[in-house]
Amino acid sequence: MTIRKAVFPVAGLGTRFLPATKAVPKEMLPVVDRPLIQYAVDEALEAGIETMIFVTGRGKGAIEDHFDIAFELERTQADRGKSVAALEGTRLTPGNAVFVRQQEPRGLGHAIWCARDIVGNEPFAIILPDELLVGRHKGCLAQMIDQYEKVGGNLVCALEVPAEETPSYGVIDPGAQDGVLTEVKGLVEKPALGTAPSNLMLPGRYILQPEVMDLLATQEAGAGGEVQLTDSMAKLIGQQPFHGVTFDGERFDCGSKLGFAQANFALACRDAAMGDELKSWARGFLD
Ligand code: G1P
Repeated sequence: MTIRKAVFPVAGLGTRFLPATKAVPKEMLPVVDRPLIQYAVDEALEAGIETMIFVTGRGKGAIEDHFDIAFELERTQADRGKSVAALEGTRLTPGNAVFVRQQEPRGLGHAIWCARDIVGNEPFAIILPDELLVGRHKGCLAQMIDQYEKVGGNLVCALEVPAEETPSYGVIDPGAQDGVLTEVKGLVEKPALGTAPSNLMLPGRYILQPEVMDLLATQEAGAGGEVQLTDSMAKLIGQQPFHGVTFDGERFDCGSKLGFAQANFALACRDAAMGDELKSWARGFLD
């Protein structure tokens, strides 16, 4: 069955970026000239996703505005003979964008469960927007859908990190490997240092079967006292096919200030209009 829907959990408070995120959702922070959430939606659009389901919370209205038609802005630009090309990809129709609320901060698993009625009984994707994944030939979700068409079931993106970083993430217990596919034998959320089954972490891209919603409904709190998506996914292993997909591209952890600064620098260096000037400035700055 084709993957038509993607869930974007965007209810988080973004406390690591205060005070910037006091009145602005962290997903609206720009990398060069586009907010983080736009990169996530573009990745979904490229992968053929039709329905974007945003799990929001209080104070996240700017995300809804961003994906609406800005009538006054477009009209004013048109009257002045100016282009609105930069708004491409921001106008989702009401049928393409759905907003549901996560009313309490009970964890990623709970956020996904809040989208259950809109997802319905079909496989779906999840994109965590603070993980900015820049694919080499195509986006991460499109790469995963290529694999989904071969093996079906459940797929997570899998990326290697240094062992000392595994306590921050969901981690895979890997089985047999076949090209970019790795069998998933187990999953553990935020393992204690030195106990991770591998250094293959989950960088926030998932294709899941709808049965995960039933498991999330009764999922007890796990790491950090939160309802963890990883714990419900782990229960699917053995019931349904479950694979990791090695991603061909670069990852920027935009949930951290360092990763966010790196993303801005890297993407700005590649920008056709300013990249060369920025790089030559940076060389002088570092000397
Ligand atoms: C979440 C997931 C974790 C994943 C991570 C990626 O953790 O629970 O499995 O590896 O995102 O960024 P969080 O960063 O919300 O603690």
